[in-house]
Amino acid sequence: MSSLACISEIARYEGQTVKLHGWLDNSTPRGKLLFVQLRDGTGRMQCVLRQGQVDDAQFEAVKRAGQESSLVITGSVKADPRSKVGFELVVSEVHVLQDAHEYPITPKEHGPAFLFDHRHLWLRSQRQFAILRIRHLCAKAIRDYFDSRGFVLLDSPIFTPNACEGTTTLFETEYFGQKAYLSQSGQLYQEAGAFAFGKTYCFGPTFRAEKSATRRHLTEFWMVEPEVAFAELPDIMELAEDFLCTVVAQVLASGRQYLEILERDLSALERVQKPFPRITYDEACRMLADLGVPVEPEDDFGAPHETALTKQFDRPIMVTHFPTAIKAFYMKEDPTNPLRALGVDVLAPEGYGEIIGGGQREDREDVLVRKIHEHKLPPEAFDWFLDLRKYGSAPHGGFGLGLERLVTWVCGIHHIRETIPFPRTIDRLTP
Ligand code: 4AD
Ligand code: MG
Repeated sequence: MSSLACISEIARYEGQTVKLHGWLDNSTPRGKLLFVQLRDGTGRMQCVLRQGQVDDAQFEAVKRAGQESSLVITGSVKADPRSKVGFELVVSEVHVLQDAHEYPITPKEHGPAFLFDHRHLWLRSQRQFAILRIRHLCAKAIRDYFDSRGFVLLDSPIFTPNACEGTTTLFETEYFGQKAYLSQSGQLYQEAGAFAFGKTYCFGPTFRAEKSATRRHLTEFWMVEPEVAFAELPDIMELAEDFLCTVVAQVLASGRQYLEILERDLSALERVQKPFPRITYDEACRMLADLGVPVEPEDDFGAPHETALTKQFDRPIMVTHFPTAIKAFYMKEDPTNPLRALGVDVLAPEGYGEIIGGGQREDREDVLVRKIHEHKLPPEAFDWFLDLRKYGSAPHGGFGLGLERLVTWVCGIHHIRETIPFPRTIDRLTP
């Protein structure tokens, strides 16, 4: 008998006796039978108890056990074409480890505030199971992509002395009598890494004090940031395109069963193929004016602009050459028009909008010094960064992809907050 069996691999054990460990999702008595839906973290499956074939006291204990009671069930694996997993368990022995009562999350509808207050329990429900399994597969596909292409994982620090993405969304903290900030992006450290290793990436939590509650913003989110020495804007665009196609294809191949639970339209993901349309900011503004959602001159896109624009295309698009004035200090100006920056945003289709931001970095020391000054950043915090321009400066670039934005789009769900185990937003710090 196998004690290592789990529901997702139950097909291997057809006709054999196995011991499953899990939780009671629900149970329904019918005459001498008791149908138990067991959840073990890998899947769900029906277990059938017949009175007389299971010890009476055990039968009664399971019958009385409430939703989410923990169980150890032994039985034989029998093919059942009506079952979603193709099998059911004919039970011979069962133990209730803990008899749970009044589990707060019942099959009835609950509001989002209630569910997020009970996030530590809500994680067990079928929809959250599917979303967070997809998150896991996305993270794996991301790591696989860079690991198999010569990128070195170089972790960026989380306590930092300087801002990377502007000073309005910084979380400040005290660091032994000094001011420190939680990292908004690991990019500046990857720039040091790229000149040491050629191609690097970091993949970790980043923080932004986003003061508005939107369906696209978290205050703590995970970002993957590759950086490549000697790369220019077109190289970075090609990398972002290839990366996204590869990651989506891998998740489609490995996570189909979870996407089906979410009733995701798979054809939308199958269309994520090269080449992605490439348009400049100025072209996008003209399209948006024609669509009746004009952008203020030289202003950034808001969610309504990105939604309108992405609905015009059946796959991700790459928007380049945003106004230099609305972009970060490190972004290189277009040598043919300094009012435009050598940056790229990748916008996901179906109205999802920006999932990647990146581009080519300013590699000249004097221009960077001027930009740090223009952005009113404290120059002393960037001394080390300027060293990278003094010693072997070269063209380079990279991008950042927000993991939760990717997962929201891949899952086809409305709100980003379900894509991270324990979301942090302007109004939520617990559980
Ligand atoms: O466009 P952003 O601000 O770019 C950077 O941080 C660059 N330093 C990255 C780089 O070039 N290495 O952020 C990159 C991505 C966005 O496209 C988005 O996917 C995600 O990070 N992001 C957020 N995700 C969730 N909540 C937020 N508040 C986010 N802010 C950015
Ligand atoms: Mg951005």
